[in-house]
Amino acid sequence: MVTKELPGARWHEMLAAVGCRVEVCADTVVLSVAEIRAAMGTRCDGAIGQLTEPWGEELFSALRAAGGRAYSNYAVGFDNIDLKAAARHGIPVGNTPGVLTDTAAEMAVALTFAAARRTGESERFLRAGRFEGWLPTLFLGELLRQQTVGVIGAGRIGDAYARIMVEGHKMNLIYYDLYRNEALEHYVAAYSAFLQTHGQPPVTCRRAERVEDLLREADVVSLHTVLDDSTRHLINAERLALMKDNALVVNTSRGPVIDEAALVAHCRTHPNFRAGLDVFEKEPELAPGLADLENVVIVPHIASASKWTREGMATLAACNVAGTLLKQPAWNRPDVMPFLGSNPPQASPSILNATELGIPLYKDIQKE
Ligand code: GLV
Ligand code: GLV
Repeated sequence: MVTKELPGARWHEMLAAVGCRVEVCADTVVLSVAEIRAAMGTRCDGAIGQLTEPWGEELFSALRAAGGRAYSNYAVGFDNIDLKAAARHGIPVGNTPGVLTDTAAEMAVALTFAAARRTGESERFLRAGRFEGWLPTLFLGELLRQQTVGVIGAGRIGDAYARIMVEGHKMNLIYYDLYRNEALEHYVAAYSAFLQTHGQPPVTCRRAERVEDLLREADVVSLHTVLDDSTRHLINAERLALMKDNALVVNTSRGPVIDEAALVAHCRTHPNFRAGLDVFEKEPELAPGLADLENVVIVPHIASASKWTREGMATLAACNVAGTLLKQPAWNRPDVMPFLGSNPPQASPSILNATELGIPLYKDIQKE
């Protein structure tokens, strides 16, 4: 049972190839828990659900009661899932990492420049018939080259975004993460050496000890954390007040990482501050006043929405369910590209609770 139509045909073919009859909910509105329960009915071996649905005790117990043994989120993020509830019912939970990285990073870049160069408000101005000719002072924005970019959360997507901003725009990097990203630090150091051999100024990379240090220094702050109790309202009124008056904040992670009401208040009183948002605290609703702000660029949670990525996510979700039903090991390696090729591994690409449920890892099996 799949709660939304997914793009491409391959995911469907893969499930059919392992003998699954696939039922897809055709409705585009977000389904309620009761509607999802009804869709699973009394016989459902596996489900693919969306980040908009709360997969917790009620749904996992209903899936289990219907004979279900497999679930995959059609998303890399999994803050909509109660992993403890899934484990209680013995249900492996898959997600779809590794195919969103560049697509999501590119959207963060798009929002960065849309905010810096005011493309939203200037397009509205133009479409409203208010353009009366070129002016020296029309829509002045920010030049980002050689400024400082701050990346909060330097995992896969944050790392990819950082590299684009450093390489493409020669920005200095400051990042904040619980873990050191040595590969990124070495990459920036090597790139800096390369620039200098070509007579260009160096670029720097530094890991901030405190998020406050990053907020004070950065001209652009891009959020790439997971959403959990430690990151909810990470960007609040006090922290916004630390940022430069003409800084930008970009969010392609999860809405509640920003206190949206505080952001609206800050943008009102700081007209040169700008935000680029893909995600919202109470999606699909926007905080009162947000949509009226000229200094905010907003798109409807589409950071992973490239055709290649969304089809790849569908393939991974289908492989998670098929692999679990066939009792295959969990792949759980960063490189999931083999699943997109013609001869996919006999494994589930990414099972979040594999260790907890005693599902063997593919690499251990290969060693035996
Ligand atoms: C999208 O937001 C995802 O988590 O895949
Ligand atoms: C801008 O269009 C310029 O020619 O300076």
